[in-house]
Amino acid sequence: MPATRPGARGAVVSGWGTALPEKVITNDELAATMDTSDEWIVARTGIRERRIGGSTVGLAVEAGRQAIEMAGLDPARIDGVVLATTSPDEQWGNAALVQNELGMRCGAFDVNAACSGFMYALITAHGMIAMGADRVLVIGAETLSRITDWDDRGTAPLFADGAGALVLESCEGPGQLLAWELDADGSALSILRSDVGGPIKMEGKEVFRRAVRIMVDSAQKSMRHAGVTADDIALIVPHQANIRIIDAACERLGIERERAAVVLDRTGNTSSASIPLALADALDHGRVKNGDLVLLVGFGGGMTAGSCILRWGGGLDA
Ligand code: ACO
Repeated sequence: MPATRPGARGAVVSGWGTALPEKVITNDELAATMDTSDEWIVARTGIRERRIGGSTVGLAVEAGRQAIEMAGLDPARIDGVVLATTSPDEQWGNAALVQNELGMRCGAFDVNAACSGFMYALITAHGMIAMGADRVLVIGAETLSRITDWDDRGTAPLFADGAGALVLESCEGPGQLLAWELDADGSALSILRSDVGGPIKMEGKEVFRRAVRIMVDSAQKSMRHAGVTADDIALIVPHQANIRIIDAACERLGIERERAAVVLDRTGNTSSASIPLALADALDHGRVKNGDLVLLVGFGGGMTAGSCILRWGGGLDA
C-alpha cells in the first residue's frame, strides 16, 4: 500500500486530548476476586493497574473537547468526526452523539477495526483532508470493561477503558503523513473474537504470536513506503496490549525500548484508545519535536493491523 501521493493535500496534528475513568483497579484488587496475582500479571503483561468506568461516548467527548481546545478551534468549524470504537454505547451513531455534544455541525461516523481502529480512523481522516476537508477530529474510545468476562483470568487483567483524540488540520506543504499500511486477515478472526455484546474470547498464545508478526510486517511496510529505516524513527507508538509484544516487536524492528511510548502499565489494553493515549503521553512529556519521524503501529481482532509514518509538524520546516 501507498506512500502518500506527491501533491496530495497534507494534514498536521494541531491538538490532542485524553480521558481516563477515575476508578483505578490494581492487580492486587483483581487478585482479591480471581485466582491471579500482581506478580503474574506484571511479569506476563506489564500491566500494573487499569481504569474502569464511564461510557464510550462520554470518554470520547472529554478527549475530543481537550483536543479541540488545544487546537484553539470553534467546534462549529470542524468538518468531520471519525470515532474508532469496538465497544460502542449504541449500535450506531456514537460519533454523531459526540458531534452533537461538542456543538459540531458536520459528518460523523463510527469505525470498528478492533484494536487497529484508531489507525483505520486516522488514515481515513487524512484521506478526508486530502479530498478537501479542513479540520477533522479523530477519536479512539472504549469501555472494554463492559465486554470483559470478569470471571476469566485469561482476559480480565488485560482490558480497560479510556479515550484519546487528535485534531487534524490541513496545511501548506506535504503534511505529516509520509506513508501508511492497513492489513486484515479474516481467516484468523476466531482467535480473538466477541459476539455482539461480548464477552471478549481469546486464544492468548496464538494472538501473541501473530501480533508480533503482523505489527513488525506492517511497520516495515510503512517504513519501506516512506523510504526510511528503523534508525530514522524518533518514537514508535505501538498498540498497548502487552509489554512483551511491544518488546518483541521493537527488538525485531531494531528499535530500542527507550524509543517506544508505553502507558499500558497504567491503562491496560484500551483497544482503539491505546495508540492516541500513548502518543498524547509522549507529546505531553515533550518527547516529540518538529521534524521527528513517529511510527504508529497497531494490531487487533479481525485480525487487523495498521501503521503509518508521521513527520511531526508536517514537511515545511523539517
Ligand atoms: N493469573 C495467573 N495465572 C494465569 C492467568 C492469570 N491472570 N492467566 C493464565 N494463567 C495461567 C494459565 O492457566 C497457564 O497455567 P498452566 O500452565 O497451569 O496451564 C499459565 O498461566 C500460562 O498461561 P498462558 O496463557 O500460556 O500465558 P501466556 O504467557 O501466554 O500469557 C497472555 C497470557 C498474557 C494472555 C498472553 O498470551 C498475551 O498477552 N496474549 C496476547 C493478548 C493480546 O494482545 N490481546 C489483545 C489483542 S488486541 C484486540 O484486538 C482486543
